[in-house]
Amino acid sequence: METIVGTNIARAKEILEQGSLVAIPTETVYGLAANALKPEAVVKIFEAKNRPQFNPLIVHCKSWASAMDYTQDVPAIAQQLAEHFSPGAITFLLPKKNTIPDIVTAGSDLVAIRIPNHPMSLALLSQVDFPLAAPSANPFGYISPTSAAHVLDSLTGKIEYILDGGNAQIGLESTIVGFDDQEEVLLHRVGGVAIEDIERVIGKKVIFVQSNPNKPQSSGQLKSHYAPHTDLLIGDIAALYQQFSDKKIGLMSLSNLYPQLHFAHRLLLSPSGNLAEAAQNLFSFLRQLDELDLDIILVEKLPNEGLGRAINDRLNRAQAIYK
Ligand code: TXA
Ligand code: MG
Repeated sequence: METIVGTNIARAKEILEQGSLVAIPTETVYGLAANALKPEAVVKIFEAKNRPQFNPLIVHCKSWASAMDYTQDVPAIAQQLAEHFSPGAITFLLPKKNTIPDIVTAGSDLVAIRIPNHPMSLALLSQVDFPLAAPSANPFGYISPTSAAHVLDSLTGKIEYILDGGNAQIGLESTIVGFDDQEEVLLHRVGGVAIEDIERVIGKKVIFVQSNPNKPQSSGQLKSHYAPHTDLLIGDIAALYQQFSDKKIGLMSLSNLYPQLHFAHRLLLSPSGNLAEAAQNLFSFLRQLDELDLDIILVEKLPNEGLGRAINDRLNRAQAIYK
């Protein structure tokens, strides 16, 4: 199958209506989309990604109002968060109606709902009469794609069309929230909407949901995810450098060049120390470093605040497999 990259929304619509896959741009990362209401279309996502079927998918809707066709008993606090952050980088785990097939939720009674904030995907969603199930458009376990070129790199020949909406503006997957019957907000995955911003809106703390590594509820909770092929370590650069000084090292830091140390390649996530800019660059820089045939990638730990928290989370998971 030839994979075409383009901006033809009508073509994307046609392919989706035929029950096939299209990669779509979002503000977080690119998604690999299928008609969420058709199990025989959704199963193709798992095949193209090599993704285990116990891992449920996010359902992308054109609006919060349209999401109500697929959910029920929506808590008031979810509504409040949606008013502030949707469309945006936040995904809601909500009780599903049986319009959503089991394959989408891996049998769970909850469905993950997100309204993406990207003009092309919103236009596409408003032209089809179904929502789109879409995980990130990368092979399972590898770095999420933030450009059409990233998608093409790993899914070429496996999908017909990649809708090119430029570089992802946020660059990190959505924050995933769930709810309990006390109107608490349960944080399942840190992501593109900062916890501090959520807490400001709800006027209280979120509750971190502990992951059980044997039965992850989110693939974002699996260890060894978002990982480059090259070994990666995160921590204090000067200390890590001592262990690997005879090796071909790639450095990824926020803004510090470490001029006294020798690296085969250096990338600064944000020369001005801006965490939003760092998030935008993170996945494409990891891919760049992964292509340089380095012995090891050393990454500076970022401040654990705002988007820095989600960046550190992804980097920790990227290195876990090698420890
Ligand atoms: O920003 C994003 O969230 C991107 C874009 C494409 O929207 N999507 C994304 O999808 O990151 P994915 O599949 O890579 O990660 C979604 C996570 C998975 O870890 C999955 O386990 C979790 O959401 N999830 C989906 N449905 C769920 C459900 N019913 N219950 C619990 N977790 C769920
Ligand atoms: Mg993913």
